[in-house]
Amino acid sequence: MEIYTEIGPCRDAAVRARSSGRKVALVPTMGALHEGHLALLRAARQMADYVAVSIFVNPKQFAPGEDFNAYPRTLDDDLAKCRAAGVDVVFAPGVEAMYGQGPLTTVHVGRISEGLCGRFRPGHFDGVATVVAKLFNILAADVAIFGEKDYQQLVVIRWMVRDLNIPIEIVAHATVREPDGLAISSRNRYLSPSERRQAASLSAALFAAVDGVRGGQKDAHVLTDKIREELTVAGPVQIEYVEVVDLETLAPVAIVDRPARICLAVRIGACRLIDNVAVDAPDFRG
Ligand code: PAJ
Repeated sequence: MEIYTEIGPCRDAAVRARSSGRKVALVPTMGALHEGHLALLRAARQMADYVAVSIFVNPKQFAPGEDFNAYPRTLDDDLAKCRAAGVDVVFAPGVEAMYGQGPLTTVHVGRISEGLCGRFRPGHFDGVATVVAKLFNILAADVAIFGEKDYQQLVVIRWMVRDLNIPIEIVAHATVREPDGLAISSRNRYLSPSERRQAASLSAALFAAVDGVRGGQKDAHVLTDKIREELTVAGPVQIEYVEVVDLETLAPVAIVDRPARICLAVRIGACRLIDNVAVDAPDFRG
């Protein structure tokens, strides 16, 4: 496994792999790799001949006051996991190598970036889109894999790729969950045991809402009110948003009679948690 901390040599390695006819898959991460990330690596291994992983805690996507400094950094452990997963190249630059004096250029994906998490994390998706555009250029990948866990991020990246005609295929991977349903996240480690038990209420409330749709409930307000109630009953929680949105535009959906996504963000103690589920065509039967 090759490891690079500088852009130039990393790009050369990726370009060499690609021009020798190998299909290159990229999995962008911020490290602290867990089972969710590893599922993306396995999917990349299945669909490509050359698997690239980036590990970069991107300061530009943390708003002031967020946990950039406290974000877990576990590079040695991450590299061991990448090696075990058969990764070909890891790109793990420092902030200076990645951004130098700049950047003066920011990628802003309008509208899609502004609702949901965008309302609570100003500038976050500009930071994500900018760093991901750079990673796409540096790693010369044919395909990049993103988790549905960060659904708005996935949609932002899809729009960016479409709008800027970036020649890369974006593949979505289903959210990987703990046995009790909690979406796996690097930040779960900060939950106390009682907060951890409470955190199972996010997915439980979302899955119950999908059952509600299957049972014929189409009113988004009724569904989101029920979710709010279930979150509140589970313990002290600060709800940022619970919304039913269009799959591609993330615009609010009032009547759930076509495929949509139910998304939420909450704070439990010091931890901010997000989750989402699909309501799909089969859910409307009957
Ligand atoms: P990070 O939070 O490290 O996540 C990297 C990738 O792993 C993202 O595509 C994310 O959606 C996916 N992922 C995380 N937890 C997952 C889970 N439980 N199931 C499935 N996929 C999961 O997302 C970022 O980093 C950054 O914003 C990044 C895209 C790297 C840009 O800096």
